[in-house]
Amino acid sequence: MKTRPGSRPGPRPPAHDWAPIVFLVGFMGAGKTSVGRALSRRLGWSFEDLDERVQAREGRSVTQIFSESGEGAFRLAENAALRELLSGLEGTPRVVALGGGAYVQPENAALLAEADAPTIFLDGTAEDLFRRCQEEAVERPLRRDLDEFRRLYEVRRPHYVRAALTVDTSGKDIEAVAAEVAAMLGFQ
Ligand code: S3P
Repeated sequence: MKTRPGSRPGPRPPAHDWAPIVFLVGFMGAGKTSVGRALSRRLGWSFEDLDERVQAREGRSVTQIFSESGEGAFRLAENAALRELLSGLEGTPRVVALGGGAYVQPENAALLAEADAPTIFLDGTAEDLFRRCQEEAVERPLRRDLDEFRRLYEVRRPHYVRAALTVDTSGKDIEAVAAEVAAMLGFQ
């Protein structure tokens, strides 16, 4: 890919100038996986969740990696999975959902910047994100009480806003967010 959204002066180029890949970033509960799936259906692209790749490589769930080996080990596994993903980009166009902490790690953000990969931040309030997590049957080792969730969100948000594009997900359903992202990418 030669063009990076947001890095060029003048009007944003149409999406077909970009490599056929997009990375969704944001906090837990932002809808990266559900919006990612909906977006991939809209675009006719495949979908990948980086956490799935981590789990497949490790042969353990995210929760197991955290409880047996700690967050540091999870971050190393996550970085290795991202490197692997980026080294095999040829092939089918893809929507990729990153885990909530992945884009916050400077080495991962640098890898994505080096690859000139379009990143989209799915934004929302800490309260909405916390509630969405509660509604999902997904185990999240870093989601404890709302105060802690909010604190972590405040620390991380300045990293997420560095993504090329931001979509506010407040009060929108999954399909509406996916449609907005597709439109931002130049697909109607
Ligand atoms: C994490 C978020 C999770 C998962 C892991 C760590 C985080 O992904 O990668 O539990 O650090 O915020 P989701 O954002 O998909 O829940």
